[in-house]
Amino acid sequence: MSMAINDNLKILILGSGGREHMLAKVCSQSPLANEVIVAPGNGGMAKEFTCFPINAGDNAAVLDLVRQEEVNFVVVGPEVPLCNGIVDALADANVPAYGPNAAGAQLEGSKAFTKDFLARHGIPTAAYGTFTEVEDALAFLAQSDLPVVVKASGLAAGKGVIICQTREEAEDATREMLSGASFGESGKKVVIEEFLEGEEASLHVIASGESYVTLPMSQDHKNIGEGDVGLNTGGMGAYAPASLVTPEMLADYEENVVRPTLAGLKADGIDFRGTLYVGLMLSADGPKVLEFNVRFGDPETQAILPMVNEDLLPSLLASAKGEPMPERLKFKEGATMVVVLASKGYPESYPKGEIIEVPENLPEGTQLVHAGTSLADSGELITSGGRVLGAVGIGSNLGEAAKKAYLLCDQVAFESKYFRRDIGHHELNRT
Ligand code: AMP
Ligand code: GLY
Repeated sequence: MSMAINDNLKILILGSGGREHMLAKVCSQSPLANEVIVAPGNGGMAKEFTCFPINAGDNAAVLDLVRQEEVNFVVVGPEVPLCNGIVDALADANVPAYGPNAAGAQLEGSKAFTKDFLARHGIPTAAYGTFTEVEDALAFLAQSDLPVVVKASGLAAGKGVIICQTREEAEDATREMLSGASFGESGKKVVIEEFLEGEEASLHVIASGESYVTLPMSQDHKNIGEGDVGLNTGGMGAYAPASLVTPEMLADYEENVVRPTLAGLKADGIDFRGTLYVGLMLSADGPKVLEFNVRFGDPETQAILPMVNEDLLPSLLASAKGEPMPERLKFKEGATMVVVLASKGYPESYPKGEIIEVPENLPEGTQLVHAGTSLADSGELITSGGRVLGAVGIGSNLGEAAKKAYLLCDQVAFESKYFRRDIGHHELNRT
């Protein structure tokens, strides 16, 4: 195995969701790629790529697979392996990998770390306190305005944020987190912060130290219900570009958030490589950082990557190797939307094992990405997760992209199919 990069890459995509399916599709289209394999993947990906049933969060298993398959580039999809230091472990084995090392991954793995980082570097974010002791947290809550937001500091699969309307609710959430009852170790430190109002937008950049390149702005739809009501999910749909963010606004976010963040990381001794996903609240007093993720968003990736009008692999490789990023990437005209087809009951309990019917020929301008799907012993495609599929529509404008995505949604069948009919409503109602 060697660190040398050639144009005959065997690429391993780590992960099993819609994001990884899109990354696998994009990488496999690159002339630099000889073969794309996936671990663990899912039922739909298994029809296109060889999938290996290992736990992506198990560094030793990933290293074994990389050696056995002679992989020469790894693209890490989810946050758990990044926080586990898979990129450091692969670097020790001389295998370049896309994504930050464990030090950089703290930006996602610890909200307390991130809030202190933001405060230290003067990057705008909600006012907050971090606590490990119940009495201190309750004293802070007694003086907080309502609503107030209580967050488990550690990784909680997108579920560790509770927006509390009453003080009692906030106290209960805080006690349950700090005792370890609700989120285990991840909740034993909490961040309590000011509630911010406004629209949210996701900014993705591919970073290599202080060098970075931006991807189109996107908007996710986190709630399960239409009109943005109900429980928070991993994301029920997304679109790009989010044109509520003008080029001037984007320049402002770069100036006041992205650059100071990458410079701050460097000053703190962290050579950050990989995706910096900035979750922004566009509040009345300016943009504020809600969170950082250190990997591509899911489902945002399924909307963003089809907008890229050039080979993305050289940028992923340059980031992994710590080389400068291109100044900009070429994007297509038009817009993309992904609508998530979930199992009814998600994000709580939902049925699994239902047979899925997908059209043999996809409508023009659509792609179907798989997330919670697997192959039954009979070879049939069945549901195996809450978010089952993503219907992607690509059009000359957002309305057309939506039409295409929803056409595909209607052509997919499984008994508990549920999806929101209003993805993109902010933007479609604005224009
Ligand atoms: P996070 O994982 O920190 O981004 O939080 C998940 C979601 O909770 C965000 O996308 C927001 O919708 C919401 N949220 C988090 N923090 C705040 C806040 N301070 N004010 C309002 N909403 C928030
Ligand atoms: N869609 C939000 C996330 O990937 O965290």
